[in-house]
Amino acid sequence: MPNIFITRHIPQAGYDRLAAAFGPDAISSFDEDRATPRDVLFKCVAGADAIFAILTEKMDAEVFDAAGPQLKVVANMAVGYDNVDVPAATERGIPITNTPGVLTETTADLTWALILAAARRTGEAERFVRAGNWHSWSPTLLLGVDVYDKTLGIYGMGRIGKAVARRAAGFGMKVLYHNRTRLSTEEEQALNATLVDFPTLLKESDILSPHCPLTPDTRHAFSTNEFTAMKDSVVFINTTRGPVVDEAALAQALQNHSIFSAGIDVFEEEPTIHPELLKCENAVLLPHLGSASEATRGRMATIAADNIIARLNGDTPPNCINAEVL
Ligand code: GLV
Repeated sequence: MPNIFITRHIPQAGYDRLAAAFGPDAISSFDEDRATPRDVLFKCVAGADAIFAILTEKMDAEVFDAAGPQLKVVANMAVGYDNVDVPAATERGIPITNTPGVLTETTADLTWALILAAARRTGEAERFVRAGNWHSWSPTLLLGVDVYDKTLGIYGMGRIGKAVARRAAGFGMKVLYHNRTRLSTEEEQALNATLVDFPTLLKESDILSPHCPLTPDTRHAFSTNEFTAMKDSVVFINTTRGPVVDEAALAQALQNHSIFSAGIDVFEEEPTIHPELLKCENAVLLPHLGSASEATRGRMATIAADNIIARLNGDTPPNCINAEVL
């Protein structure tokens, strides 16, 4: 019987899948709804054949070595895997898997929830109503910016970027994108999207949303210079990874009104949020909910489990990031 360790409480579908394959006794977990403390993690992974990992836990050389040489797979329940030291895993011959595809549409929906909320100031407006401050309809109360007919800028046109762009058609928007590779002419036409250089994206977007993975190249891709180059009416969104944005610079741009508003789901040091950003009324702040629908989180857990099952049964895990180790 294999030894599978799950780093924190996960949707039932993930447990069920693993239990159906190997029996409930094969599974142990830090079954609490908080990140596993590092010292506990080291003890719990010892002897594991598989680790079911969550992005709140760093998966690095120390964890792999604490697990031991029998570790056969680390399945990350996320599409992003910046919490995993992939080179360290590859060096040790450990396959790392992720859960691409299933969360694309749910994350695009949440991105749009933030676009609309930040443009129309719904977070601020809700706080205003609940505080008992609403006394009458007013021609000048809480005026926002329009979304319809504007220009949506996307930085990183992968699966999620495209899904966000697709929804823009319903708002009659033009899409500009900046990406390492150009989409096919058919895709550009279908999305009403035009490839532009980064300065043009910054200058011309009315709504700007990065959808790139976090890599050394994209860390702080958006900082003071970039916010300064944007329109002062821009709505800036981040549902990818916190460190893509320099949070202190974002807070300053919001406070100076050099940008209109922001809708932010991910932060540099989650769950800590820069204190200056917390003070900004013109920011809508969410606790990393991009993929947080019941159905999608269930699918993500199932896919992570399927990757473990495949690997432990000697098959190729379907979503291996470092396939060279197989
Ligand atoms: C969630 O943030 C993910 O990367 O899947």
